[in-house]
Amino acid sequence: MPDYQTIEHDVLVIGAGGAGLRAAIEASAAGVSVGLVCKSLLGKAHTVMAEGGIAAALGNVDDRDNWKVHFADTMRGGQYVNQWRMAELHAKEAPDRVRELEAWGAVFDRTKDGRILQRNFGGHRYPRLAHVGDRTGLEMIRTLQDHGIHQGIEVYMEHTVLALLKEGERVVGAFSYERERGRFKIFRAKAIVLATGGLGRAYKITSNSWESTGDGLSLAYEAGAELIDMEFVQFHPTGMIWPPSVMGILVTEGVRGEGGILTNKDGKRFMFESIPENYRAQTADNEEEGWRYCQGDKNARRPPELLTRDHVARCIVREIKEGRGSPHGGVYLDIAWIKQKLSNSAEHIKKKLPSMYHQFKQLADIDITEQPMEVGPTTHYAMGGIHVHPDTQMSRIPGLFAAGECAAGINGANRLGGNSLSDIVVFGKRAGEYAAKFAKENQFGGIDSDQIDRAAAEAVAPFERAAGENPYTVQRDLQEAMQELVGIVRIEQEMVTALEKLKGFWERANRAGVTGHREFNPGWHTALDLKPLLTISEAITRAALERKESRGAQFRDDCPEKDDRFSKRNTMIFKAADGSMQIRWEPLPEMPDYLKQVIEEMK
Ligand code: FUM
Repeated sequence: MPDYQTIEHDVLVIGAGGAGLRAAIEASAAGVSVGLVCKSLLGKAHTVMAEGGIAAALGNVDDRDNWKVHFADTMRGGQYVNQWRMAELHAKEAPDRVRELEAWGAVFDRTKDGRILQRNFGGHRYPRLAHVGDRTGLEMIRTLQDHGIHQGIEVYMEHTVLALLKEGERVVGAFSYERERGRFKIFRAKAIVLATGGLGRAYKITSNSWESTGDGLSLAYEAGAELIDMEFVQFHPTGMIWPPSVMGILVTEGVRGEGGILTNKDGKRFMFESIPENYRAQTADNEEEGWRYCQGDKNARRPPELLTRDHVARCIVREIKEGRGSPHGGVYLDIAWIKQKLSNSAEHIKKKLPSMYHQFKQLADIDITEQPMEVGPTTHYAMGGIHVHPDTQMSRIPGLFAAGECAAGINGANRLGGNSLSDIVVFGKRAGEYAAKFAKENQFGGIDSDQIDRAAAEAVAPFERAAGENPYTVQRDLQEAMQELVGIVRIEQEMVTALEKLKGFWERANRAGVTGHREFNPGWHTALDLKPLLTISEAITRAALERKESRGAQFRDDCPEKDDRFSKRNTMIFKAADGSMQIRWEPLPEMPDYLKQVIEEMK
């Protein structure tokens, strides 16, 4: 084995979005040495794409809110296949995590009497999203970064982890490459927290930026952890669709929270026609009531635009497919209409949604205070991910923890907006705490040079095939296939075709070649991203095929109803001894009576 630079930390956190930063802060506060690895630059994380707010039952705007309502909303949004214990911990601990962010310097918007302001979001019964205009994720990253950096956390920017290193069953380190110099680096650690975020880049239209290639899921899978609920991929109802260069960029749900409405080309507010039975009692059936709700009237019911994301996204797809879409193939999202209601509407919109105002002005030459936006669904979030213990966040690999989007369980079949930001701080903290505990109770493990040699050989292989196919074309074809065949509306035959295509993509990826040297070589980087992208694409497709029903984000046109056979179990993907990807069903843990009662009461 060549003499690679080796760095030791008690706890290594891989990923520096909100979950990674919060884990690193907690571990460091417990007195262990912490290394924080980011694929990109510190501060550049998908966390910033959760714009509209962080969900926590503070009860500042509506004092009927409490953890029980939040828990029940999360379970209902997830169609009851969530890991109940994660949903419980999340609902109970989110308020403290928000107050802590405030104490660390996050500047939330305020109510008139000076408390943290909360806004409405889909599926949340009461105004629950603490926010900073429409830049909440950004403010959280800024706050966590400032706080973490003063705790002596060692940060390694632009490092991509390619393999986890194990001794027996336990994880003992990570093999990485440093983008700037193209050099390999070994991290030895007593415990590792994966916080690598999502996998949106497996799809053509996504709100995710280039880093979100499912790295943590693939690393964990290769190391022997299981992936849960991979079929559930969230398509956020509103992404930009025009001009093509910005397709997929998020248009925050906060627009609808502030009163934005969805209309089709005929000017019809189509969501009124599609209120599901189980939400009917809580949903307004007229414009006036919906507006009053957005203005904080406690007796009004929510507008149908604030139904859950899975439902809203499907209604939009229906309008487009049935020929009632906008000129560029989306629908209209209109906040300008509130000028009928507010005399100072333009200032109001600019104050509440400053980023959206600038985003549309600069990227699409649209003034959202005057004109409607054109929007369509965009791949935004993975409900599925690494299966972890709900309290400790440890996977089934000793010493390997996960938190945030790359871990899974809390959201079930569909995530409520704003729950991702609370998830990352609640479970980031927990992962950091338990990883530090594990590190204190264990010594460094031994590093196996064979594992390193294998990882290094795999990494440089694309240079030995310089005449091979360009990795970009493989990536592009994969993204198109996933978008077409395993997207918002799925059917068995198309997913079988997707699996066939994936086989071909694996072969092409193994033949893909790059030229040039190892320093800052984006082609090489793309070639290395193919393995995680293909792994998670295959996992999504296999799990979606296995769940022969429609539930939450998984909509099967060939099995359009919910099916009781699937209501009490989760899919688990794992790597078999022969190297093949396998799937099994895991029964949901039985919910204790006190929580069943909470759900009953909230109905
Ligand atoms: O629409 C949004 O601002 C996104 C929030 C989220 O995904 O939680």
